[in-house]
This record gives sequence, C-alpha cells and structure tokens, in this order.
Amino acid sequence: VRFNLTESGVASVSLNTLCGHSHAKIGQLLDTRLGYPHVNGSPELRENIAALYPAARAENVLVTIGAIEANYIACQALLSPGDGVAVMLPNYLQIWGIAKNLGCRVKTFRLRCDDGWALDLESLQAAVDCDTRVIAVCNPNNPTGKILTEAEMNAVVAAAERVGAWILSDEVFIGSERLTETDSPSFFGRYNRVIAVNSMSKAYGLAGLRIGWAVAPSAIIDEIWDRHDYVAISAAKLEGEIAAFALSSDVRPRLLARGRRLIREGYGLIQDWVDSNRSYFSLIPAQATPVAFVRAHVQMSSHELAEHLRKEQSVLVVPGEHFGQDGYFRVGFGSPGPRLTEGLERISTFVCGLDTGKPICANRLQRSDHENARLHWA
Ligand SMILES: Cc1ncc(COP(=O)(O)O)c(C=O)c1O
Repeated sequence: VRFNLTESGVASVSLNTLCGHSHAKIGQLLDTRLGYPHVNGSPELRENIAALYPAARAENVLVTIGAIEANYIACQALLSPGDGVAVMLPNYLQIWGIAKNLGCRVKTFRLRCDDGWALDLESLQAAVDCDTRVIAVCNPNNPTGKILTEAEMNAVVAAAERVGAWILSDEVFIGSERLTETDSPSFFGRYNRVIAVNSMSKAYGLAGLRIGWAVAPSAIIDEIWDRHDYVAISAAKLEGEIAAFALSSDVRPRLLARGRRLIREGYGLIQDWVDSNRSYFSLIPAQATPVAFVRAHVQMSSHELAEHLRKEQSVLVVPGEHFGQDGYFRVGFGSPGPRLTEGLERISTFVCGLDTGKPICANRLQRSDHENARLHWA
C-alpha cells in the first residue's frame, strides 16, 4: 500500500539523532566488541530499566527481544494446558493467541465502549475464577489509548489476589501519555505476582532495536530467563548498548518529550478529521498511545472495510476485529504529516462514497475465508 497507517509507535529516531550527532558517542558504539553479551541484558541496561520502577532492582529485570518475546516466554513459564487465562478486550491479541495455542481456557473481560473505555468490573469478576492462572492486561491500552484509573488497577489486583493469579501487564505504551508529562504507573510493585512487560518500540521510536524486557520477582525472572536461553540466548549486544544509552537519565526525557510532541500533533490531525466527518466516524479520546481506535458507522465488518481501503485506496488500517472489537479500525498517527493527512482523506472518500450510493468497488469483495472464520471470543 502507499499509505500504511498501521504503525503503532512514534516516528522512528535515527542513530545519529539519538547520539545527538556526537562523534564521541558514535565512536564508542563503533568500538563495541561484538562477542556474546550478558545473556540476561548488560548490568547497565538492567539498572537503567530497574530505575523506571520504584520497587525494582536489576535482578528483577530480564532483557528480551522486544516485548513480544517477553510476553511469549512469560506465558511459557506460567501456563500449562487447561489453565485459565483472563484477557482484557479490546487488546493486542498476542497473549490471547499464545494461551489458546497452549491449550488454556481463555475468558475475556472488557473495556466498555459505551462508557469511555471504563473497565467493566462485572465482566472482570466473571472472567476470573479459581482456575485462573494469569490475568492479562494492556495498560495504556492498545488499541483504545485508555489508561486504567487507580480504582481500576486496584480492582485488577483484587481479582488476582482473590484467586492467587499472576498479572501479566503489557505496558509498552507507558511514556506515550497525551494529556500529561507523567508516565502511567506500572502494575509492578502493587502485588507480589506481577510480570510487567515493556520495550523501546512505541514511545521511544526505537522499534528497530528489538529490545524489550520483563520486570518481575527474581524467582520468576529466573524461570522466564530459562525460556529466553532456549529461544534466543540473548538480545543483540549493540542494540542493548544503544538501549542503555537511550534509557539513561539525560537521554530518556528528551526522547519521551519528542514522542509526546508527535502524539499531540498527530492526535490533532485525527480529531479534526473525525470532527469533519461526524456522520461516518466517532472517537473516544485516547489518553495515551500514537493510535486512534475509530468507530466507523458503516454496514460492513471492520475486516471488510479494511480490505476495501487496502484494495481501492491503497490505505492499510487494522480492523477492530483483530483486537476483539468489530465496528472499529485502528489508525496510527505517530508520524504526523502529509502522508497521514492523505491517508485519512482516502478513508473518508471511500466511506462517503458508500453513502452517496456510488458503486463501492468494481469487483465487490467476496466474503473472505478470514471473515467466515471470524474469531470466536472465548
Ligand atoms: C501491546 C503490544 N505489546 C507488545 C508489542 C510488541 O512490541 P515489541 O516491538 O516491543 O516486540 C506490541 C507491538 O505492536 C504491542 O502493541
């Protein structure tokens, strides 16, 4: 496609910009000896990560290949076939899928679209029972941009405590808050069975480093580390050095300030676009993340809509069904500029065309296999 609006991080940073064009820093990176690194992450990187969590020390940190590996090996360490897993929806569905693949019983609980994405406490209670081993949350949430309130976080902890479950908290969007300069709080430190996952990919604009981490009590970190040894040995050495630099106390605030600037600018473009197309789209304002989860008032599934946009407008969006919520689509706005503006215009051109009765495409889409095999949310 010409307009890929599926990115979920802020615009990426070049190595040169990250190093502040400093020859000294670049020279230091060039001098890095490329042997095997510390397999759980260098002490400097783990200390910089631990400093982000009031309750963590370096031994609570395992460095992984992105948050995606941390989520995966945390599930491998915690889950066995038949275990119960309660997953927040809408959500990035990696943990939902891993749990299904491992033969777990997956139940879901919701953020309520009719209540500004507030946590549905009744569905949380119903999803957590005495067989629940893991409660999986994404906070700040992908795709809605919702940040859980203190009361909602306490409710998740209380549900976990009631049955002795682990909280697996995907926190990759911490640092992408739109309405404040303050990072959203982590679940780590609120309860003794928490694995918090984060990475360099979203708020920092450094997804290409493929550096993520898990923060957890040291005994479970050791168990997750065993899986990391089998899968990867370690994350890459040079990337770990760059991540340690990016998370140092003078560089990290600069990176996050840049990210928040992009998020505020991009969100303004999305808001103006939704406001000028109110009969077709609506949006619950996101509190964080460089993505907007837009409600489309059209008579087709979100997957069909995304396919029309891809084929007829060369625009790629993520259908809401991929997050467990039909009727919506996700647009990334972390790289504001003419490409985003034109992509948005193409979306409204297509949807307005439906309204005026224009044929929506030359060869109307057949109901796809994907659509027929519509995911059944447990
Ligand atoms: C909620 C969430 N978790 C994890 C990931 C994976 O991120 P990483 O690039 O750190 O592996 C993503 C990527 O889109 C995500 O949105």
